[in-house]
Amino acid sequence: MIDITPFETTINNLKKAGKYRVFNDILRENGQFPYALWYGEYGVKTIVNWCSNDYLGMGQNKIVLDAMRTALDKTGAGAGGTRNISGTTHYHIILEHELASLHKKPAALLYSSAYVANEWTIIALSKIIPNIHFISDQKNHNSIIVGISYSRKPKTIFQNNNLKELEQIFQTVKANNEIPCIIFESVYSMDGDVSRIQEICDLADKYQAITYIDEVHAVGLYGKEGAGKLEELGLQDRVDIVNGTLGKAFGVQGGYIATDATVIDAIRSIAAGFIFTTSLSPITCAGAFSAIKYLRKNPELREKHQERATLLKNKLKAAGVNIMPSTTHIVPVLIGNAEKAKSISDQLLTDYGIYVQAINYPTVAIGTERLRFAPTPYHTNQMIDDLVDALTDLL
Ligand SMILES: Cc1ncc(COP(=O)(O)O)c(C=O)c1O
Repeated sequence: MIDITPFETTINNLKKAGKYRVFNDILRENGQFPYALWYGEYGVKTIVNWCSNDYLGMGQNKIVLDAMRTALDKTGAGAGGTRNISGTTHYHIILEHELASLHKKPAALLYSSAYVANEWTIIALSKIIPNIHFISDQKNHNSIIVGISYSRKPKTIFQNNNLKELEQIFQTVKANNEIPCIIFESVYSMDGDVSRIQEICDLADKYQAITYIDEVHAVGLYGKEGAGKLEELGLQDRVDIVNGTLGKAFGVQGGYIATDATVIDAIRSIAAGFIFTTSLSPITCAGAFSAIKYLRKNPELREKHQERATLLKNKLKAAGVNIMPSTTHIVPVLIGNAEKAKSISDQLLTDYGIYVQAINYPTVAIGTERLRFAPTPYHTNQMIDDLVDALTDLL
């Protein structure tokens, strides 16, 4: 029988450190986004969701839902196997072609999430290239940190966007006859800032480094067709491996990489987290495929998204709210204290019907605790005004 003592100790330690997570029980109602229901302790209440990563509301988009219903009727629920054993359906193949085309790469590979895609692509790279040396931006996502750590290969972390430090690291790695692989994100999702992509690519070229970018918070949202920041900046041919998600702007679930066809062929043969798991449901693939196709042709949601984010930032600034210097759609409000962030988040939910999760350590550094707002094209002027008024009351 399991002894629960170490589990209790773990929970108590987390509580003492202010790291214990409380999951709010909400129910998204189709057609009502960003409204949702909140199942609170004393009843059910309608709330406005201000922290969903369904950035464009594609999770309730009719085109996406119709495609998913059609796939459900045509093919049934699940994939029925791993990719190797009967789980590669036509839905997976056409989605991978679409992703490759979106990112202007010869091939793409689906994973069950972008987390798994980061973790297992990095581990696979370490098996394929024995003398690889990972160079990782300090603000990189946990999936990248864990992938590098499990690879057991040499790694060096550089300060966010610090090109001087990055160049010194490249020099040391090259002097050791190792192969540098620089891993960074395009949009850092907790701050909403953008990395110095072009300069990083220039340095990577100078030192013949492999380049790997996480565009999870940019795909669907930036660039003419929604391929991300690389597309927006005209840099799609400068980065070797692109990681993206189907679970945020594309509104569904799953992750992928897009890169050279031979690289994909080797990685799909090596990455255990890709091989030994049931592949994505064809229904999910059908939804993601439609979302991507739609967003490639229709920039209106992207434009409205940016307009809403700018309006929210301007209104918060005018009201004297301390927003962090985001240059993207993400609107972080600095609170600077874990208990205070949690308490404001709780008050917003219970008293104002506004749902924004407090972001505390270890997701962000101690002292930089914040509320992270994610406006969408569907947040109205009234919702924005209500939020600004509520924050003005509470801060
Ligand atoms: C930067 C970054 N990369 C990867 C992921 C993982 O994405 P997914 O939700 O598809 O696993 C996240 C998730 O929030 C993320 O923020």
